[in-house]
Formats: sequence, structure tokens, C-alpha cells
Amino acid sequence: MSWGLWVLGCSELVAQHHLVPTEGSPHSSGGRAVPQHLNPPLLPLPSGSSQTLFSSTADVANPSAITDAAKIVEGKLNGMGLNLLINNAGIYTPAASLQTVDAEEMIRTYKTNAVGPMLMAQAFLPLLKKAARESTEKGLSCSKAAIINISTIMGSIEKTSESFYKPVISYRCSKAALNMLTKCQALTYGEAGILCVALHPGWVKTDMGLFVADLTVDTSVRGLLSVLPILSEKHSGTLLNWEGKAIPW
Ligand SMILES: NC(=O)c1ccc[n+]([C@@H]2O[C@H](COP(=O)([O-])OP(=O)(O)OC[C@H]3O[C@@H](n4cnc5c(N)ncnc54)[C@H](OP(=O)(O)O)[C@@H]3O)[C@@H](O)[C@H]2O)c1
Repeated sequence: MSWGLWVLGCSELVAQHHLVPTEGSPHSSGGRAVPQHLNPPLLPLPSGSSQTLFSSTADVANPSAITDAAKIVEGKLNGMGLNLLINNAGIYTPAASLQTVDAEEMIRTYKTNAVGPMLMAQAFLPLLKKAARESTEKGLSCSKAAIINISTIMGSIEKTSESFYKPVISYRCSKAALNMLTKCQALTYGEAGILCVALHPGWVKTDMGLFVADLTVDTSVRGLLSVLPILSEKHSGTLLNWEGKAIPW
């Protein structure tokens, strides 16, 4: 059995695990999917399975790049399904307060942080459904078929007052929309055997989180990778952090 994983906009994860570098310039392509057979595998798999990771810098704010990417991955899977789609790409505008944010900034951020993951899931749905249909596993899991949306605690309405010293309006609203999308995806795609979860990676030392952040990329990514194998139907439609702890909507 082979196992397909697609990571979009995830260069840090890819680099940290020495998997495969993304090709080309920043998210400009129609989806240069770079397949790599993983040994050891990224997730625990049934014995005898092989695992293939695809990563690319396809622009999630460009719908035609997304459909092109799905076609490329379909071709490379050679008739197999795709087990795991991770929507990691995201943008953040630190200065977007209610005094400064405008329509253009809101729409730009929604396009990447909420609309992109929705279109990605739509485009890859046939491949995810195929993986779910062909799996012998019961219930829902990342090794069967799953959509993981990388979100943030800043999209949690209940937790907003704890971090509102940074208003980041466009980011918060777009990630709250992504959280709602995740719930809607779970309710819709669950019937087809697809797990849908939003994950908060923690405050991480990346270009977005900056060096003052709490976690190194390595700690966050290792945490997220240890959460993926424990996800099941009871987690579908929820927001969890990098340690697997639930975050209220
Ligand atoms: N860092 C944190 O503290 C933190 C906290 C909570 C949640 N998150 C979430 O974690 C995810 C990764 O963030 P990060 O910290 O790694 O941020 P980052 O360092 O700014 O990296 C963001 C990644 O997204 C890609 N990207 C941006 N726009 C894209 C588009 N339109 N199409 C395709 N790819 C695009 C970027 O590609 P290029 O490099 O080519 O621009 C980059 O690889 C995001 O969803 C973010 O919201 C981060």
C-alpha cells in the first residue's frame, strides 16, 4: 500500500525533517509537486506501506494554481488516493488594528488564510475520498484520510481578550473563518471517512512568530507530528494545540 501526503506552504516542516525542499520561487507555480519516498515515515503506518510526501509552493490565493496542483498530485499518485492534506500557508499583518485595517487587507488575508484552504480541500477531495474508500481502517485517522488546517489560538473568539494587546484584525478574523471552515468540513466530509482538524502550532520562532516567540520550529513541528497519529473521530471539527490540548472556539 502506498500513502500520500501533501504539504502546502510548509518549508520549515519540510526542512526540519530533511524531507524534500520545495522547488522554485515563493508560491508562484501551479504546484510543482515534489514527491519523496519517506524512510522513516512521517507517520506510523501499517507494515508494508510506503509513504510519499508531496510539497509545493503553489499559490493558495490563486484558484487555478490549486486546481493545477491537484492534477499534478493525481498524476504522481498513479491511481492511489491521498491520505493527508496539510494546509499550512498563512499570512499575518502585525499592524492591522481597527484604526488601520482596510478592505484590501482583509480580502488579501482571507484569500490566503481561509479561502485557500477551502479551495484546496475541494480540489483534493476526490483523492482524499479515494484514500478513505480504499482504507481498511475503521473510524477516522490521519493515516486513512485527513485535512489538517494550521490555524491559531488567535482565531479563537473565546480566547481573544487574552491576546488582544495585539489586535491583528485581519489575521484573527481570517483564522476564525478557518476554524469555522474546519467545523463545516468535519460535518460534511466525515461521512466520506475524512478527518478534519484545526491545529495551533504554538507561538513559534518563524518569520511570522519572530525570534521572541516561545517555541523553536523543531519543538513545534515535533509536537504537531506527535499529535497527528492520535487524532480520531472525537477530534474531528475541533481546534487543538501542538500538544494535543483542546482550544475553545
Ligand atoms: N509562527 C507562529 O507563531 C504561528 C502561530 C500560530 C499559527 N501559525 C500558523 O502557522 C502557519 C505557518 O506559519 P509560519 O509561522 O511558518 O509563518 P511564515 O514563517 O510566515 O511562513 C508562512 C508560509 O506560508 C507560505 N505562504 C504564504 N502565502 C502563501 C500563498 N498565498 N500560497 C502558498 N504559500 C503561502 C509562505 O511561503 P513564502 O515563504 O514563499 O512566502 C511560507 O512558507 C500559518 O498558517 C500561521 O498562521 C503560526
